[in-house]
Amino acid sequence: MKILVTGGAGYVGSICVEELLQRGDEVIVFDNLSEGHRLAIDPSATFIQGDLNDSKSISLAINTSEPDAVMHFAANALVAESMENPYKYFHNNVCGGLNLVNAMVENGVRRLVFSSTCATFGTPDRVPSDEDTPQNPINPYGESKLMFEKILRWFDQVHGLVFVALRYFNVAGASEKYGEHHRTETHLIPRVLQVALGHLPNAEIYGTDFPTPDGTCIRDYIHVRDLASAHILALSAGKSGFYNLGTGGGTSVREVINACRKVTGHAIPTIGKPRRSGDPARLIASSEKARQSLGWKPQFENIEAIVESAWRWHRAHPAGYQD
Ligand SMILES: NC(=O)c1ccc[n+]([C@@H]2O[C@H](COP(=O)([O-])OP(=O)(O)OC[C@H]3O[C@@H](n4cnc5c(N)ncnc54)[C@H](O)[C@@H]3O)[C@@H](O)[C@H]2O)c1
Repeated sequence: MKILVTGGAGYVGSICVEELLQRGDEVIVFDNLSEGHRLAIDPSATFIQGDLNDSKSISLAINTSEPDAVMHFAANALVAESMENPYKYFHNNVCGGLNLVNAMVENGVRRLVFSSTCATFGTPDRVPSDEDTPQNPINPYGESKLMFEKILRWFDQVHGLVFVALRYFNVAGASEKYGEHHRTETHLIPRVLQVALGHLPNAEIYGTDFPTPDGTCIRDYIHVRDLASAHILALSAGKSGFYNLGTGGGTSVREVINACRKVTGHAIPTIGKPRRSGDPARLIASSEKARQSLGWKPQFENIEAIVESAWRWHRAHPAGYQD
């Protein structure tokens, strides 16, 4: 197939591009490099530097490349920043996405895989959370992703756009070539590994008094390569749908730090901080629907294996992509 990948220079997008190329697909990466890295773009992919907010640019990219499908990763994804600058999030994640689906429909491209998020649930009233869990986002980031999910429903109904929205829980890990380098890193595993690399003095734990066995937040970590395999399966889904993606297991912040200690052999000192507002105690996915309907089966169900792959990449790239 020929796939256009928006955000293919970013963390998750770069590894999906790698997997698509490995199975013989032709890939066009569309990215403005606002957050992504040129070195994260596999040299076998065609790169178009463009911005989704420039409707002509995305329209031209789709018109000239004539993809069979689009994978849409491009977005801003920092919760705290979205609380300070909601305009940026609604503009980029909603208006940018709208330009994309409009260009797809205009050019007769009717298959999309979209990166949604567990942040659309807010503080879920059901854990593990399945697809019918009520969605009540508690920050502009989650709201912007939910708005785009709604846009997709209407584009399916009105224009026959077949979409699969994958709501990822906590993504982690790396491939041999590509890994996680966000310009502002807020994710736990890369931050803890920065301590092991000697770049940060200690690992911060936000909240040690949650109603969980060790008092720290519990999250559902999914390996980025398992996420890539879900995207590839989603390309052949016969109909539109929403899927929650996690491994269904919960790992606390302290358990993640212990896994990092074991994998890196570093003591990793920690420092307790107050809870961050809006951080739920437990976020765990029920991914039964993805397993049953897409035939998805995650390969990495153990936090140490996930951390090991991340550590290999960070050790080989201590300064990330260096751009
Ligand atoms: N990483 C996670 O844990 C996680 C969890 C849930 C959902 N998601 C979603 O997955 C997607 C990818 O996340 P990531 O961690 O790889 O993020 P990332 O920031 O590494 O990648 C996003 C990419 O999109 C590009 N981009 C942003 N706005 C653009 C625009 N207007 N035009 C063109 N390119 C643009 C950036 O340059 C970057 O390369 C995002 O949509 C995010 O919301 C990520």
